[in-house]
Amino acid sequence: MYSGTYGNQQALYMALHRHAERQGFDLAQKGIGGFTHPQRLAILAAEGAHFSLKHAVRMLGLGEQSLISLPVDAQWRIDKEVLPTIIQELRRKHDIVCMVATAGTTSTGAIDPIALMAELCAESGVWLHVDGAYGYAYKLVPEWSPRFAGDDLADSIIWDAHKQLGAPIPNSILFVRQRTEFGRMALYSPYFNRAEDVEPNPGLKSPPSTRPLSALPLTAILRGQGLRQVIEGLRTPLVAIKTLADYLHDVADIELFHQPDTGILCFRMRLAGLTGEALDDLQRHLYERLMAPGKRSISMTNLAGKRVLRLVTVSPYTTFTDLMETVGELRRLIREIRE
Ligand SMILES: Cc1ncc(COP(=O)(O)O)c(C=O)c1O
Repeated sequence: MYSGTYGNQQALYMALHRHAERQGFDLAQKGIGGFTHPQRLAILAAEGAHFSLKHAVRMLGLGEQSLISLPVDAQWRIDKEVLPTIIQELRRKHDIVCMVATAGTTSTGAIDPIALMAELCAESGVWLHVDGAYGYAYKLVPEWSPRFAGDDLADSIIWDAHKQLGAPIPNSILFVRQRTEFGRMALYSPYFNRAEDVEPNPGLKSPPSTRPLSALPLTAILRGQGLRQVIEGLRTPLVAIKTLADYLHDVADIELFHQPDTGILCFRMRLAGLTGEALDDLQRHLYERLMAPGKRSISMTNLAGKRVLRLVTVSPYTTFTDLMETVGELRRLIREIRE
């Protein structure tokens, strides 16, 4: 695929296509006008799901009104406790087409409860899509793999090999549980993508005719490094972030916003006397000061209306010591401000 963004869009199209098929018509021909009540169609995803889902519902003609946010728990994962009830309630006004479990949200790296979502989807024939664009690589790390339980029941999963694996962009893969689902995308022509051709043809599985040979760099990475080294490279930054989270748990000058599921940690620096907007401004100031020399990188996001700093480890070389240097620099800047 050209990107996680287009992978998400295609997954939603396939979900909608299957939904239409079950209602007795071909979405490819009739479009969403074929549904008796198109305005009831709903796609469910976590509050913090990636904005590419918004692009997808826009481009599919469903509109953003169709994308319904599910509440998250204290760890920013879709809240298991309330999910079954919420779905029951939503059913009164909506036809649920697809649920999206994010396996590694962009802001916090949280992994939604895939197994529970898979169970709920199976009960009612809803398509389960896993947006693992950022996080699904960590499924390869044996100790992290159980966090993705239920992925084998998903109808589709998107994964970006151009993130942690360092494959040249674009390098995204859309997996489907049943290969026949790709038939929903096929569009034949007499000169190209012929129905009678027998060779494997990615052009019958997703829209572009002209595309890079992304499989080659990915295969070269996997075979060149070997799976053991790839896994080691994924594990190092995960352990670094986890160790940092354990350390920050007990320190007074830093407020931690979650326990990391993957390689992202959100926190903010405290400064006596500062609250609310002033504390938000402090985080922006620290961000700008830290980034200015061009030596370190940190990012920012908003969680529950609060501005937080965000450490993202994707490099296979990032260690706890490296992350502590960044924390040390933040502490130095705070001392400077205090003085
Ligand atoms: C969870 C998630 N989904 C989708 C995307 C979009 O992927 P891409 O940048 O390949 O379009 C991202 C990108 O960061 C992401 O983190």
